[in-house]
Amino acid sequence: MKIGVIGLGHMGNAIASRLLAAGHEITVYNRTQGKAEELMRQGATVAEDLASAAAGDAVITMLADDRAVEQVVLGTRNHQGLIDHQEPQTIHISMSTISAMLSRRIEEASRAQGKLFVSAPVMGRPDVARKGELIVLTAGDSNAIEKCRPVFEAFAKAIHVVGQKPEQANTTKLAANFMISCMIETMSEAFALLRKNGIDHCLFLDVMAKEFFQSPVMAKYGNIITGEQFDTRAFTVRLQEKDTRLALDVALESQVPMPFAMAVENIFLAAIGRGKGNMDPCAISQIALENAGIDGNRNVLV
Ligand SMILES: NC(=O)c1ccc[n+]([C@@H]2O[C@H](COP(=O)([O-])OP(=O)(O)OC[C@H]3O[C@@H](n4cnc5c(N)ncnc54)[C@H](OP(=O)(O)O)[C@@H]3O)[C@@H](O)[C@H]2O)c1
Repeated sequence: MKIGVIGLGHMGNAIASRLLAAGHEITVYNRTQGKAEELMRQGATVAEDLASAAAGDAVITMLADDRAVEQVVLGTRNHQGLIDHQEPQTIHISMSTISAMLSRRIEEASRAQGKLFVSAPVMGRPDVARKGELIVLTAGDSNAIEKCRPVFEAFAKAIHVVGQKPEQANTTKLAANFMISCMIETMSEAFALLRKNGIDHCLFLDVMAKEFFQSPVMAKYGNIITGEQFDTRAFTVRLQEKDTRLALDVALESQVPMPFAMAVENIFLAAIGRGKGNMDPCAISQIALENAGIDGNRNVLV
């Protein structure tokens, strides 16, 4: 298939690379030039502008947040958006983690212009994308989703259709990321409790992740916390805070109390305030340690 990929950050790069390996014809575009060099070596065409990436069978957007997606897709006062350039047969696949409200606005604008729109946020980090093991949560017109299957199969191990309204995929993704936020904070607090009481938190992680919950995801995040590997930049406190906040936005709009979401949102804000915004989301575990009176050298102070 002929596919455009707009946004070549950690995720967009990994996804474009998988699409090339699967034999698709790929055109890439990124705001900052230079991020496409490796993809060009792998056979991608590098577009000079947005319009050149918006033709073909599908165009993927994989951008940071609502602000980026709004500017690129809907346009600004001075620049037309992707939607204005999109060919009528080209399906726009929105894969960024964005608000349900923005997804709804894109769906309405697409319908008004006779353009095709599918929402398909993903579960999994860039390393998972490079292995072709993402989980796609998709929603939208069922015919359009079926046409997108070969695209998803290039980088996903599972594809779940969660609704017919694109925004339902975004709400599903936000619910999932809310659970990750809580899992990180839960482990951070439990590990602080154990460490303060002289108990081996690494052994505890093994017991809980491998034996009791049997969760590779818990093991992955737990190992980042115990190994204090907070500078990977594959995902950040800032992005995790954004996702938690977006879950709260849907909760407020649909009147669903989420007290845990509010609590963990405040912890991510505190982490940003303390200069940890660009660290791995698991860096919030440092706050749990500090609150417990355990210092940077892991000595119990109080
Ligand atoms: N990383 C993960 O583990 C992960 C997992 C699942 C979902 N996600 C979601 O996937 C999306 C992308 O994540 P990522 O890790 O790839 O982020 P990233 O590495 O920070 O890349 C962000 C991308 O957005 C572009 N961008 C930002 N602001 C823009 C603007 N105003 N106009 C045009 N382009 C703009 C950046 O372009 P420049 O290069 O010009 O800055 C870059 O291509 C996010 O919504 C994230 O929540 C991430």
